[in-house]
Amino acid sequence: MSKVLVREEIAEAGIRLLRERGFEVDVDGDSDLDEAIGRYDAIIVRSATKVTADLIGRADNLKVIGRAGVGIDNVDVEAATRRGIVVANAPESTVISAAEHTIGLLVALTRNIPQAHAALKQGRWERKTYGGVELADKTLGVLGFGRIGQQVARRAAGLGMRVVAYDPFVSRERFRELGVERLENDADVYAAADFLTLHLPLTNETRKSINAEAFGKMRDGVRIVNAARGALVDEDDLLAALKSGRVGGAALDVFSTEPYSGPLLELDNVVVTPHLAASTEEAQDRAGVIIAEQVAAALDGGLVSNAVNIPVIGAEDLEVLGACVHSARRQARASCHGARGRARRGVAADLLRRTGPVRHQVVDRRRLEWSLPGTLRPAGELRQRAHDRSRARRGDPGGAQPFCA
Ligand SMILES: NC(=O)c1ccc[n+]([C@@H]2O[C@H](COP(=O)([O-])OP(=O)(O)OC[C@H]3O[C@@H](n4cnc5c(N)ncnc54)[C@H](O)[C@@H]3O)[C@@H](O)[C@H]2O)c1
Repeated sequence: MSKVLVREEIAEAGIRLLRERGFEVDVDGDSDLDEAIGRYDAIIVRSATKVTADLIGRADNLKVIGRAGVGIDNVDVEAATRRGIVVANAPESTVISAAEHTIGLLVALTRNIPQAHAALKQGRWERKTYGGVELADKTLGVLGFGRIGQQVARRAAGLGMRVVAYDPFVSRERFRELGVERLENDADVYAAADFLTLHLPLTNETRKSINAEAFGKMRDGVRIVNAARGALVDEDDLLAALKSGRVGGAALDVFSTEPYSGPLLELDNVVVTPHLAASTEEAQDRAGVIIAEQVAAALDGGLVSNAVNIPVIGAEDLEVLGACVHSARRQARASCHGARGRARRGVAADLLRRTGPVRHQVVDRRRLEWSLPGTLRPAGELRQRAHDRSRARRGDPGGAQPFCA
């Protein structure tokens, strides 16, 4: 029976799920982890436990590390990958909370709620100072139309806003479904938006992309909400734009350095929260259940849809590809079973190398089947074919092929 160590507190429902699936679960945040880790097939942590390369080196039986939350900074993913250990997180757990917080910031910003609240608490009844503007009929520009961006868009539409967005990686159908206007680039969003909300990942491309040059392309007096990542914004440029009035106001949940104590806090047209977007009871509960499902899938040889160190298939594609994935997995396993020793390692390393983000120098033979759930290259190809087919159905040129024999 596989053993799971729950090292930090997660929702009781998550623990129940693991036990019902037949795993032996120890909830233990106290024992010496260096000594205990060798006994477990899976460990679940939140943000406090450091899963270092050294700890992973002692984890002789470990097959999966579950992070009940989004950030995986506390897990040495590279070391885990080298040993064929799956690392999974629960990014969808915070989507609703982050979207609701974004809307909260938007309303707070337009109606000066925090400033008026602070003034009244200090005994000042200042009705004239804190007049605001309505959101209805204004244009909200969304940069990054992923999980959170889409939920923000739905809620903003409910407030009567016109929503436009830019995200080159999201299908036209999804924009249509949500009634959001799909723009071709970020400059078009800047030109259209009365309010701009950021839901981008932090990458080399997006880091400090909201800078003086971008402000120059935005509408005069635009208001900006950032509940994604602080480093998306050049804070010096934002400060200057807020002071000049080029940017009319900003609501910020995240900062380039946290805790933040810089000059943006001194401006009246800036509303702030201390990285609170994901901090709800529901998000924390959801994270526990989702991570339990991920760990159970990894231990049962199922598809670990939130794995961060093996290629995975999105939920929508999975509906189409599910059967093919299992068949691909069987084939990959068969080719590994056929090989022995170095040759077997070679097959695995080759498949892993060809499939993108996994960088393997050494592949631990005992964990071959975990790091190689067979979904690697075959699934990538199948996914491409599914995209081609769906393009063909929509009448786009692009060469449809039968996707699964
Ligand atoms: N403040 C918080 O507590 C909190 C909580 C959860 C998530 N976040 C952050 O919110 C952001 C969004 O999270 P998510 O779960 O929606 O991520 P996601 O991956 O679902 O969505 C991001 C979207 O951005 C798109 N994208 C990437 N590069 C782009 C570019 N250059 N231009 C336009 N679009 C681009 C991607 O295609 C993707 O659809 C992330 O930065 C995440 O870390 C913050």
